[in-house]
Formats: sequence, structure tokens, C-alpha cells
Amino acid sequence: MATTIKSLSLNYMKLFTNIKQLLVTGDYPNPLSGVAMKSMPFIENAFLLTDEGRIYDYGKMEDFHPVAVDEVVDLTGRVVLPTWCDSHTHLVYAANRENEFVDKINGISYEEIANRGGGILNSVKKLRAMSTSKLYEDARKRMEELIQLGTGAIEIKSGYGLSVHDERKMLEVIALLKKEFDLPIKATLLAAHAIPEEYTSDRNGYIDLIVEEMIPAFAKANLCDFIDVFCEKGYFTIAEMERILDAGAAYSLVPKVHLNQFNSFGGIASALQYNALSVDHLEELNEEDILELQKSDTIATALPGCSYFLNIPYTPVRKLIDAGIPVAIATDFNPGSAPSGNMNFTVAQACINLRMTPEEAIVAATINGAFAMGVADQVGSISRGKRANLIITKPINSYNAIPYNFGFHHIDYVLLNGIDV
Ligand code: NIG
Ligand code: FE
Repeated sequence: MATTIKSLSLNYMKLFTNIKQLLVTGDYPNPLSGVAMKSMPFIENAFLLTDEGRIYDYGKMEDFHPVAVDEVVDLTGRVVLPTWCDSHTHLVYAANRENEFVDKINGISYEEIANRGGGILNSVKKLRAMSTSKLYEDARKRMEELIQLGTGAIEIKSGYGLSVHDERKMLEVIALLKKEFDLPIKATLLAAHAIPEEYTSDRNGYIDLIVEEMIPAFAKANLCDFIDVFCEKGYFTIAEMERILDAGAAYSLVPKVHLNQFNSFGGIASALQYNALSVDHLEELNEEDILELQKSDTIATALPGCSYFLNIPYTPVRKLIDAGIPVAIATDFNPGSAPSGNMNFTVAQACINLRMTPEEAIVAATINGAFAMGVADQVGSISRGKRANLIITKPINSYNAIPYNFGFHHIDYVLLNGIDV
């Protein structure tokens, strides 16, 4: 077919031809659920046209009508899909916790490590001692690595500061990342991640600090988009979560909550009353939790990397999908329970450990992840007007190879806003 190359123009149009499989095509008003996840829309032998960093058109090669473009790229044998949307990370942190990793191998549990002053409080100590510029520099490098691994939208939590000064420091680092990287980044206030040492005998005092100082100050300064609580035995109770979510609601902070990681004790029903955008972890779920989720629009986010690393049960995703609940998957990238931000591995785990089909896993890691962080208008599917944030694979037999070759990734290059990064 004759394609003319345009001469100098203000717009830059790029045409990708002969794409073996173009995945997650279409625009979606809601996250996909039930059988719709399994029937992920895709086009065999496709073309894709981008203009000024956005998706301009796409379809079957045979339906392509020649237009003037600036560049033509032949993608014979390659799969193209939207970049991963990692809707749950703790990307900003001061140091690895490799010593705890070894403790865990030697049989000490996550809870025991936390009780000895390790765990989250260990990360807090290190983060408080680190300058904003060093924290930012480290986070920036991690972000660059994740982009190479195909992540094109990300949610990042605070939660290793646990004081007004240090939670602000974390949120400011996320704000700097938002400035530096032209991709959707969302900031979540997770001041309720643990009770800091100085409040051990005054936990209400710490909740007061979150409710009366942090939420109003950070919301007014536009430093956070969402509010999160680690609602778990030994961390924050349902009543404490409710107080914090109420305070967040007064500033329009939508909840995304850590729930049911180790215990199921009614937190889900409560979070749903607050219209949580997502409830995350859910390794421990009972029938009642599933019934509650079924009645809501809330997305269930599974974090298989955390189960893998901590050797704890996996989220019963099959039950969730069969109940028609939209499921997203994310890395939970953090130094304590999931020290990997590689979404390609998360997708493989979703298939191998969560028993999701490749189609369900890819939907959960793209469009449903985008919904779980409120950016589905910009990314998550191949749709006209969305950002051209795309993964271009090396030649592969089919998209099944993406989860099949666990621990590998088949990415040749990544485009953000149409630009090869
Ligand atoms: O999502 N569960 C709570 N928070 C993190 C772990 C944080 C840490 O151990 O540093 C998580 O798994
Ligand atoms: Fe987490």
C-alpha cells in the first residue's frame, strides 16, 4: 500500500504497520469484570497511527487507508500493548531491607520482624535520616528502570515518614517525580502505615496528627490524590481507618486501602462505605467480603509479588473474577514485602499463581490498573486520544509468551507519549 511521507509539518505522525497482535483495543467507561476480562479485545495484523504523542487511529491492516505520515515503522512479528499501569507502589524509600530478607529465610515472620523494630519502622528510621534530594535521586533512578520494564503510569504512596515533616518530604519527592516524568503519577497519603515509635503509648495522638494536621495541610497543598490506611491487626483498626477516611473525605481524598493482607475482620465492608476506588492485598478473603465487593464498584487489587516474597497465601482472584468483581494487579514495590517493581513478572505470577488467563492478567495490569488509579482517560488501552504509551515487544509467537517466560521480559522498546524512551 502506498504511504506518502509528509514534508515538514507541525504535527508528527508515526505509523506502525504489520503489528502481529495489538492488545487491549477500545475505550472503556468502566473497568472490565467477569468474562469481559477473559475476552480481552485485540486485533491481529494491525496498524497503529500516533500523532503528537497520542493514539490517532488503529485497526486491521486490511482496513488501513493511506495517509501522509512522517515516519513508518514495520512491526512484523511484534506485539504492541499499552504500557503497564502499576496502581500500588511504595517507590519512594530510603534503603533496601536485605537483612530482613535473610531473617525471613531463616524462619522469622513478617510480624516478628516488625515487633523487633524492623519492618516498616526500620524504613521510617532510614527515611527520616535521608535528605529530600537523595530520596528523589534514588526514586528517579527506580522510575527510569521501571519505565524500561514497561510501566507507563504509576501510583506511589507515602508511609515511611510518619511525621508531618517526613510524610511531607515523601509527598514532595512524588511531586518532583510528577514534574520530571511525563506520565500519569498519582500520590497517595499513607501516613497510617504504622504507629511511629514516639507515639507508641499514644496511638490516638498519632491519629489526631494525621486527621488534624497532615490531611488538611497536604490536601490544601495538592500533595496527594488518594488516602490509604494499613488496616490490619497490629496496625490500624477499622474504627481508626474510618476516622482517617472521614477526614480524607472532607478534602475529597478518595480511599485506596490496604486490607486483608493477614486477616479478614470486616475492613472491606467498611472501606466500601467510603466508596474506596480500590481495596488492595486481599490475601485473606471470606465469603462475606466477596459478597460485599460484589455490591460495589470498587476494584480488587491483587499484589502477587508480596505473596511470593513473604510466602503468604495468594489473593483468591478466581473467586473474585467469577463473582464479577473487577480485578487489577500491581507490584506493591517496596523494600519490605515486595522488592520488585517489574510488572512483567507480576503478569506472569497472575497467570501462574493466581490462575488468571494471560488475557485476564493483561487486562488487570493495563486498563483495570488505570481505573484503580483514576487515569483510564489517559492510558490503559489502545484508544483514540489516549497517550501513546506503548510496549513494543521483540518478535514473539503470541502475547502468551509474556507471562509464559516468567522472569524474562520480551520488551524491545517502550514509547511514552509516542517517544522512544
Ligand atoms: O503493602 N502492608 C503494608 N505495607 C507494605 C509493606 C511495607 C513494608 O514492609 O515496608 C505492603 O506490603
Ligand atoms: Fe502496599
